Amino acid sequence: MAVTLTINGEKRTVDAPAGTPLLWVLRDRLGMTGTKYGCGVAQCGACTVHVDRSPTRACVVPHEALEGREITTIEGVAGPVADAVRAAWPAIDVPQCGYCQSGQILAAIALLEKNPTPTDEDIDTQMSGNLCRCATYVRIRQAIHMAAEALRS
Ligand code: FES
Ligand code: FES
Repeated sequence: MAVTLTINGEKRTVDAPAGTPLLWVLRDRLGMTGTKYGCGVAQCGACTVHVDRSPTRACVVPHEALEGREITTIEGVAGPVADAVRAAWPAIDVPQCGYCQSGQILAAIALLEKNPTPTDEDIDTQMSGNLCRCATYVRIRQAIHMAAEALRS
């Protein structure tokens, strides 16, 4: 079934079986491997993308349900908040193995777009669905504060 999706501002037509999660359309059909597979059951956040600017688990959303929606992945996320987050992450060496980090970054951008002055508690609450086996949580929190500060200055 051919479906046209809007991904990072571009129309992409894909022909995949109905019910195929967006994650596998991105990775296997379109070669966009920045979005990662972790659990496959919406429990880890590795596959986080934005749909209409909200963080969404690509591993459980059937791709055909997203026709007409605006999908943004780590490859295409842009704007002042994305720039601030992208600058903060390497500034304090947030990643360890890196596997979870595209999902963490997409979640952090969505958080700061809604809440430009998050407290530690806000960050912990909003980011709690994004797991990191390397336990980079403290640096993630620091980087979000750094990005928020940069956006205010
Ligand atoms: S792979 Fe989607 S939430 Fe874990
Ligand atoms: S940096 Fe390794 S899983 Fe998060």
